[in-house]
Amino acid sequence: MSKQFDVIVIGAGPGGYIAAIRAAQLGFNVACIDEWKNDKGGPAPGGTCTNVGCIPSKALLQSSENYEEAALHFADHGIGIKGLSIDVAKMIGRKDAVVKQNNDGILYLFKKNKIAFFHGRGSFVKAAEGGYEVAVTGTQNETLVGKQVVIATGSSARALPGVPFDEEVVLSNDGALRVGAVPKKLGLIGSGVIGLEMGSVWRRLGAEVTVLEALPTFLGAVDEQIAKEAKKAFDKQGLKIELGVKVGDIKATKKGVSVAYTNAKGEAQTLDVDKLIVSIGRVPNTTGLNAEAVGLKMGERGDIVVDDECRTNLPGVWAIGDVVRGPMLAHKAEEEGVAVAERIAGQHGHVDFNLVPWVIYTSPEIAWVGKTEQQLKADGVKYKAGTFPFLANGRARALGDTTGMVKFLADAATDEILGVHMVGPMASELIAEACVAMAFRASSEDIARICHAHPSLSEATKEAALAVDKRTLNF
Ligand code: FAD
Ligand code: NAI
Repeated sequence: MSKQFDVIVIGAGPGGYIAAIRAAQLGFNVACIDEWKNDKGGPAPGGTCTNVGCIPSKALLQSSENYEEAALHFADHGIGIKGLSIDVAKMIGRKDAVVKQNNDGILYLFKKNKIAFFHGRGSFVKAAEGGYEVAVTGTQNETLVGKQVVIATGSSARALPGVPFDEEVVLSNDGALRVGAVPKKLGLIGSGVIGLEMGSVWRRLGAEVTVLEALPTFLGAVDEQIAKEAKKAFDKQGLKIELGVKVGDIKATKKGVSVAYTNAKGEAQTLDVDKLIVSIGRVPNTTGLNAEAVGLKMGERGDIVVDDECRTNLPGVWAIGDVVRGPMLAHKAEEEGVAVAERIAGQHGHVDFNLVPWVIYTSPEIAWVGKTEQQLKADGVKYKAGTFPFLANGRARALGDTTGMVKFLADAATDEILGVHMVGPMASELIAEACVAMAFRASSEDIARICHAHPSLSEATKEAALAVDKRTLNF
């Protein structure tokens, strides 16, 4: 006998589990299926984000940042350390414990919200009366029928053609988070978000890190001024980033990897490393869904085609998160999950794709929301810009971290904030103020006139807003 549900969610990453919770809050009878296994074969809900993405990477970034702080900066505070060392196994163990806390937290939330969780792979069987039949296979084997189905199957690392991930020497994000000892030499292909974050972790712990990037510009999607400032900081830290390269043959043995490439000057080069992380983007996960059985429309990238409201070509079937168009970010997936559950309930769920913030958790952190200066120029929008350096911020000086700046872009005529860009300490937290301001369509003058606590990094945000009108107070 099949089990009947109002809503079946396939995938328990940030998109899926949040969609399930919101649907349950709205009174629906909800099932959520996820196949991820922990190392004991048990369920590990949370998807890429919890298991091999956002959470473990931030745990390692924190550990490595603490190490570098102790190695390079504690002495400035008069704190002496003898025999500083890093126990990589312990660091990885702590990261695993953080992941498990998150897995357990999601299982608890499923119980709390009376969501039926199924551990196994979900695949379409057929369209059924008033809905869809979905088979669960794996740890559990069941047949479910749902009036509505939300696909939230996420994405996986893209491999270079002919260079499969062995997770020993050629690593995806998964292997990159489980390296057992600090590699002497580490190579990365792709200086995108993963390249910079994972490169930072292992560089801070002593690896000699080289990043090979195909594009001639560094972080092309980031505001140019901010990207330049970030690059300066990474160069100073010794993170070697080679732009405009063409990667050729890659030979991997048990001992290491040899990467042949042509540099920006057209010269043939070889990079020999102990480990190579390939971080050249991600591909949507749809194999195993048996989408053909129901005629689900797929895009050229292997993504599921949806409209602005996450509707697929099939009535009652929705898709959200990394498996559809748009930025591959956990908070974007979550917002879509909430909006879809609300639409199923007949409400007007809403996601403002112009206000999805980005954060790169390097040191300095890079964060932005809205338009970059180069986008505004390309769109012919008349704008005013204001910047404020952390060098002139008292809290940043007290912290001992004065790299970077906050930058505001506001409409020349109306002063509405069009974009906010940051590189510097705690930019990941500071950007939230910009998101709130822009959601309320605030002007830079609004931020300039709001009282910000002293001394705080957020004063740099206020001062950058003041800078739009050329009236900074502390610079
Ligand atoms: P996923 O999290 O990928 O979850 C999909 C789930 O569906 C998985 O558990 C998968 O096993 C399951 N699944 C797939 N197919 C089936 C099936 N047929 N049946 C059952 N289950 C199935 N984003 C941020 O916003 N901030 C960050 O700091 C950040 N850091 C990242 C760091 C790294 C190293 C990586 C790789 C990614 C990072 N991301 C970050 C991106 C973020 O992880 C993704 O955008 C997010 O996880 C997407 O959520 P999702 O729910 O769409 O899919
Ligand atoms: P990415 O898209 O951020 O960067 C990939 C980089 O690889 C690009 O700069 C691209 O030009 C380069 N590249 C592609 N093919 C190449 C080749 N053959 N040779 C050399 N360079 C090549 O992808 P990444 O870093 O793999 O991350 C995937 C996604 O995961 C991100 O786009 C983001 O959506 C998400 N993520 C988010 C994080 C965050 O929010 N802090 C952290 C990590 C990942």
